[in-house]
Amino acid sequence: MLDKIKEIYKEVEEFKVDNKEHLEQFRLSFVSRKGKITELFEELKQVAQEEKKAMGQELNKLKNKAEEKFKELNEHFENQKSSSVNTGIDVTLPSVPNELGSRHPLSIVREKIVRVFERMGFNLSEGPEIEDDWHNFTALNFPENHPAREMQDTFFIEKNPDIALRTHTSSVQVRVMENQKPPIRTLSPGRVFRNEAISARAHCVFHQVEGLYIDENVSFADLKQTLYHFAKEMFGKDTKIRFRPSFFPFTEPSAEIDITCLICKGQGCNICKYSGWVEIGGAGMVDPNVLENCKIDSKKYTGFAFGMGIERITMLKYGIKDLRLFTENDVRFLRQFTSLG
Ligand code: PHE
Repeated sequence: MLDKIKEIYKEVEEFKVDNKEHLEQFRLSFVSRKGKITELFEELKQVAQEEKKAMGQELNKLKNKAEEKFKELNEHFENQKSSSVNTGIDVTLPSVPNELGSRHPLSIVREKIVRVFERMGFNLSEGPEIEDDWHNFTALNFPENHPAREMQDTFFIEKNPDIALRTHTSSVQVRVMENQKPPIRTLSPGRVFRNEAISARAHCVFHQVEGLYIDENVSFADLKQTLYHFAKEMFGKDTKIRFRPSFFPFTEPSAEIDITCLICKGQGCNICKYSGWVEIGGAGMVDPNVLENCKIDSKKYTGFAFGMGIERITMLKYGIKDLRLFTENDVRFLRQFTSLG
């Protein structure tokens, strides 16, 4: 009898279970009431009294072994069933990589610009992209026959020439001046539209950040220092800034702002046309007519304003040579911009 027990023990150990059918065979052979082990228990009844105890112990070991093996394998197949059969998902497959998106370079640069000015106490203001003549031109002291009002620059709405797509975000600043009392320190980033042929250097839709500061005793020196601080924060502490006399209807005096070329550090290269300087925007002292148009007392208050193109700054910052890349949405281009560093 002991030999038989040993033999079946070995059989239990070596029985290969690769699928549910095998497991059922195993159950029938060793675990069920009609199986081999139950048979042995029957036989035990015939065994002599002195041997019964030892034999019984061996038999119990065998029974436990078979039951344990069955339980383990059964759980194994049950788990498989719930993960692959029930849900249709094979959990053993390698996972699909989750691709991380990245921010658009224009968004990264806009945010960086905004942060620099926020630290100087500027708040943010927004306004409509479809504007009326007053906010885009007239309040800003554009003479009636100024060329910027003509069709080649501005997208007018055909049925109503009083309505146009804004050509700059200075229109937002008119709205701020009309609705707030000085001191005003505000920054208006946004999309602007001009009727220009699309090329590597120009687009009919682009982005600007314009700034406005109005208070008592604001001077051109404040403007210079503010933009100098911005240039150092944005482009690095060795960056220099220069103002060239210019003209805008809404500022007097007006200037064009240049910074030292980021590519050649002022040595001269093809980006800066060998001058060592690149233009980033315009600026000036707010014309008293503009203040009066917005019901601000120009005898008491003065202010400065500036405007910059976000595309232009982004191109300088990253050495991008073609502005059209910003709107083509080629992921090979977009993927390269994760942070400004
Ligand atoms: N609004 C001007 C432009 O779009 C930029 C500018 C803003 C210039 C403020 C001077 C002062 O070109």
